[in-house]
Amino acid sequence: MQQKTTTLRTQFEQEVYDGLTTFPKYLSSKYFYDVIGDKLFQDIMAMPEYYLTDCEFDILQKHKQAIGNVFYADQKAFSMFELGAGDGKKTKILLQHFLDSKIEFDYRPIDISQNALDQLASAISKELPAVTINTLQGTYFDTLADIGSDTTRKKVILFLGSNIGNLLHLQAIDFLKQLRAVINSDDLIFMGFDQKKNPQTILDAYNDKTGITEAFNKNILTRINTELGGNFDLDKFLHWEVYDPETGTAKSYLVSKELQKVSIEALELQLEFRPWETIHTEISQKYNDEVVQWLANEAGLTVHAQFSDDEDYYKNYIFKKDIR
Ligand code: AVI
Repeated sequence: MQQKTTTLRTQFEQEVYDGLTTFPKYLSSKYFYDVIGDKLFQDIMAMPEYYLTDCEFDILQKHKQAIGNVFYADQKAFSMFELGAGDGKKTKILLQHFLDSKIEFDYRPIDISQNALDQLASAISKELPAVTINTLQGTYFDTLADIGSDTTRKKVILFLGSNIGNLLHLQAIDFLKQLRAVINSDDLIFMGFDQKKNPQTILDAYNDKTGITEAFNKNILTRINTELGGNFDLDKFLHWEVYDPETGTAKSYLVSKELQKVSIEALELQLEFRPWETIHTEISQKYNDEVVQWLANEAGLTVHAQFSDDEDYYKNYIFKKDIR
């Protein structure tokens, strides 16, 4: 391995450099997402094996009344912020229900992609014109300050899709603490957590036979090739998924099928991969009530309500600030 001496510029460059020059190698799943990765993730959500999306959709459909009752229990108008709103497909169930039930609210979707927000805003104005919508572009972390400084209304913060599962427990606690810091005692956090279940069901969700998840995982190598002048040969890596039923952690890897050399021009980096050497790319944590309770406690939150699908594959929890 040859070292780079000049200054590294972007965060992407720095993180790729750090992850590929250590042992064992790793890359962050946040870099799966570009125009191609976003499309692949849409395709994943539409796959029959990827039960998470359907489960959360069913929960919102089945429990919309009860959820609305909790959000509007005090009859106070609220702003509903959604972190990582994407196409808002699931959220529209709640928006429609709130309109039908004359619940007073406004909708503030947040996403890193301005394009996704523009499409969402135009879909909402066509399909649900009575909804007041204000979009906010940025990462979750950047926009938390904006959420906190907005004191006009009660807040409900949505974080769907078990996106929290892409964080290690300590990172998740830190993230929940950051959310706690921007809410008041009346405010609510509504969050999706994929649950522990038959390990085979979980493995199948992350290892589809059509290869969509494989392409999604490998998109990080494509990005290094196109954005950083890398020469990864995607066919020389396997997509590999493992699930540990004890910890509830699903992990994705890219595994080198042979001894190979890869160079990344922008990093002036020459890498060697041994046969069967791994790059760890993603964790997708699965939970149960005890673990969610523990995360909430550690972050100074309490579990106020919870909703699940018929098979308890997936749950949405409502958290409040613990003010004891
Ligand atoms: C976005 N995130 C919650 C997905 C997950 O289930 O971890 C990303 C994903 N990775 C592979 N398939 C879907």
